[in-house]
Amino acid sequence: MRTVAVTGATSGIGRAVALDLAAHGFHVIATARDPEKAEKLSARAAEADLTLSTVMLDVTDPASCQDAVTRIDELTEGGAWALVNNAGIARAGAVEDVSEHDARAVLETNLIGAARMTRLVLPGMRRRGQGRIVQMSSLGGLVSVPFNAWYCAGKHALETLTDSLRMETAGSGIHVTLIEPGFIDTPMLSDALEHFPASAHHPGVHDAVRGLVAWMKPPGPETVARVVRRALTATSPRRRYRVGPAATLAPLARCAPAALTDRVSQALLRAHRL
Ligand SMILES: NC(=O)c1ccc[n+]([C@@H]2O[C@H](COP(=O)([O-])OP(=O)(O)OC[C@H]3O[C@@H](n4cnc5c(N)ncnc54)[C@H](OP(=O)(O)O)[C@@H]3O)[C@@H](O)[C@H]2O)c1
Repeated sequence: MRTVAVTGATSGIGRAVALDLAAHGFHVIATARDPEKAEKLSARAAEADLTLSTVMLDVTDPASCQDAVTRIDELTEGGAWALVNNAGIARAGAVEDVSEHDARAVLETNLIGAARMTRLVLPGMRRRGQGRIVQMSSLGGLVSVPFNAWYCAGKHALETLTDSLRMETAGSGIHVTLIEPGFIDTPMLSDALEHFPASAHHPGVHDAVRGLVAWMKPPGPETVARVVRRALTATSPRRRYRVGPAATLAPLARCAPAALTDRVSQALLRAHRL
């Protein structure tokens, strides 16, 4: 049975991925940073007649990452076949309103944490001559959107880091894949909308962003879980999998002149202002 370690498996997309993979014959090692949430996840799996292992992990803490990988190595007698770097946070708001502390937290979790975990599992994968790294990127890694700049910056950096890694591991038997979902209905999205900071320079933007996201009708995290499974079961996985219409259309925005994409973004926000 192939083992997949999933970071940030206690909520949203990570939980959906962990349960979906466990239901499809993988040995899942679900990582959590809160023991109570880990227990809840195990109970949820048991209700569905599924088993998974849990390991404690905070991706922003180097010692916790090392301990988690050691534990994963013990559970698998040598290391997981695949790692899904899913753990992530968002700190929405205008660039001038997001504190340096929050900006660092986003980069530490979404970029450095994913890179750290990748670095720790790669030696085992190289030794075995096989493995999969799946990086949970985002629409925000493909295009820049206003009022979520640090999240976009981190995901753009994750995209380039992953592209470089893919070239560096070519021919090693290790496949490196990016998953690029658009808006997905998870606690991260609802929390970001709920705690969107009021902005003196952008009155009404909170309602506009909420209206825009509601208009997009974000699908549930199971949609992403199915795509992750596809990436893990494909003999030759694609370099990137886009999930949902917004992410699928993103390459068009990348080709368009910035003057046009700036105007479209302004028009979309204006249209959804209450
Ligand atoms: N929702 C979207 O619209 C969307 C779209 C595209 C991509 N994504 C990406 O999908 C991934 C999952 O997001 P989600 O929407 O499912 O969010 P979520 O429901 O908030 O889940 C995030 C998960 O990451 C964990 N986590 C956060 N910080 C961590 C840390 N320092 N160390 C270890 N785990 C940590 C959380 O643990 P706790 O439960 O302990 O907080 C939770 O399990 C993220 O990488 C996100 O950027 C989301």
